[in-house]
Amino acid sequence: MNTLTLLSLLITVSVSLSNVDHCHGGGDGGGHPSDGGFTVDLIHRDSPLSPLYNPTYGRSERIQNAFLRSVSRASRILKRAYVSAIDANISAITGEYIMRIGIGNPPVEVVGIADTGSDITWAQCQPCKNCYKQGALPFLKPNASSTYHVESCQSKACEALGNDRLACSAENVCKYGLRYGDGSYTNGDLGNDTFWIGSTPLKNVVFGCGHDTNGTFTEEASGIIGLGGGPLSIINQLKDTIQGKFSYCLVSALTKRSNATGKIHFGDHAVVSGPDVVSTPLKRNIPATYYYVVLEHVSVGKIKLPYKVNTTFMKKMGLDTENIIIDSGTTLTIVAQEFHDDLTAALSRVIGDETVPDPQGMFDFCYKDLDLSRVPTITFGFTGADVEFPRENVFIEVQKGVSCLTIVPSVGVGIIGNLLQQNLLVGFDLVNNKVSFRPTDCRNHN
Ligand SMILES: *[C@@H]1O[C@H](CO)[C@@H](O)[C@H](O)[C@H]1NC(C)=O
Ligand SMILES: *[C@@H]1O[C@H](CO)[C@@H](O)[C@H](O)[C@H]1NC(C)=O
Ligand SMILES: *[C@@H]1O[C@H](CO)[C@@H](O)[C@H](O)[C@H]1NC(C)=O
Ligand SMILES: *[C@@H]1O[C@H](CO)[C@@H](O)[C@H](O)[C@H]1NC(C)=O
Ligand SMILES: *[C@@H]1O[C@H](CO)[C@@H](O)[C@H](O)[C@H]1NC(C)=O
Ligand SMILES: *[C@@H]1O[C@H](CO)[C@@H](O)[C@H](O)[C@H]1NC(C)=O
Repeated sequence: MNTLTLLSLLITVSVSLSNVDHCHGGGDGGGHPSDGGFTVDLIHRDSPLSPLYNPTYGRSERIQNAFLRSVSRASRILKRAYVSAIDANISAITGEYIMRIGIGNPPVEVVGIADTGSDITWAQCQPCKNCYKQGALPFLKPNASSTYHVESCQSKACEALGNDRLACSAENVCKYGLRYGDGSYTNGDLGNDTFWIGSTPLKNVVFGCGHDTNGTFTEEASGIIGLGGGPLSIINQLKDTIQGKFSYCLVSALTKRSNATGKIHFGDHAVVSGPDVVSTPLKRNIPATYYYVVLEHVSVGKIKLPYKVNTTFMKKMGLDTENIIIDSGTTLTIVAQEFHDDLTAALSRVIGDETVPDPQGMFDFCYKDLDLSRVPTITFGFTGADVEFPRENVFIEVQKGVSCLTIVPSVGVGIIGNLLQQNLLVGFDLVNNKVSFRPTDCRNHN
């Protein structure tokens, strides 16, 4: 089944506007690091340095799995944002990059999936009524942390949970509950403790301390690190400390085994500057989680194509001009079907029309023995920011001798995926509401 059919199948269902989060502003905790910023590694899940690394997977398996995760994640994003009833296997395992942080005093290491598509950070805590296996990774022991406390049901943080608020216990402990499309879930206490990013302690951060978690979570990670734009994301909780700024530089281990790691920066370290930086307004919608921008046109060499969407569909979704989400956890880039037809037509005009089918039947625009020098420059024209993406991000060799376009069609809102963002420093500024891009060799970036 190709992307279009699969995604349409998942998404062409009644759109409901009732699925709106109720956010009421967030907490304002945050520590005071001595230096105005901090940085940690961002490890691609298929890197030998990743706990999720599976040495038996070859390139085509890695790509096939990434493809399926992209479809699942795109469906999850659409479902959370707009659609109430998709019956599909929306896996709980989302995100493609791992980062290590510490929680508590003394800190316990959490190997978390860095997720720009969710807000609440959570990790498994002892005692566990029900926990998924997490290999050799330690569980958080809230009782052993001198700084841990739970949030009351009257707290601002509890209120900010909105639909993710599960219950209030007899002891007045605020309980969170997150549900994933495939039936996976995590329930627990809304806790508050010191986070450690790099060696920087960040006090009073609210997170989910999971005491009851089950489903398709991956054994090798102990939680999710929420980097979305909602009130409970660490980006918003640490807003004063990091001035609402984070940036990342992504390295992929999808097509080639590589020990190179990317970086994620916060605060002063996250400033993207220099003469080759371009910036576009960051747009918000409901839920506040997603980082939207406006894509106006795409240039394929000298051919300038206006970006097209199904405006009826976008209106139903409650979207105005914002039409595409920047996400680090989706591998492929997803654009509206209306526009994808124009894009592939333009590429055929420049590269040639001798496309071949993808042997695995997933991608729908592939060439045999593609010489990348034949691929025209692809520039995405966001409002005020023309971003040229490296050719090797646009076509990847999915099997020996077959290279496919990493930009695939779907119904609804678009997603700029992580493959396209490789070797760009991408900065988010939630105070000045802008997203910046700078071409960067992420392997040699600190
Ligand atoms: C965490 O707890 C501290 C101390 O009670 C509180 O000041 C802070 O606001 C809490 N953090 C959040 C994000 O609510
Ligand atoms: C969901 O997963 C089940 C079991 O893995 C599989 O048989 C089924 O085809 C999947 N459904 C979709 C829509 O992908
Ligand atoms: C902490 O310890 C107390 C007493 O030992 C116990 O009653 C409580 O359930 C523990 N709570 C957690 C969250 O571990
Ligand atoms: C946990 O999930 C697995 C499948 O994902 C299921 O087989 C098992 O029964 C579940 N356990 C509990 C206690 O719900
Ligand atoms: C990559 O990392 C793995 C695991 O740490 C190590 O065994 C391997 O030697 C490294 N490879 C290179 C080229 O550094
Ligand atoms: C555009 O979206 C609307 C609303 O979902 C749908 O009814 C219509 O068929 C779509 N148009 C096209 C050309 O796909």
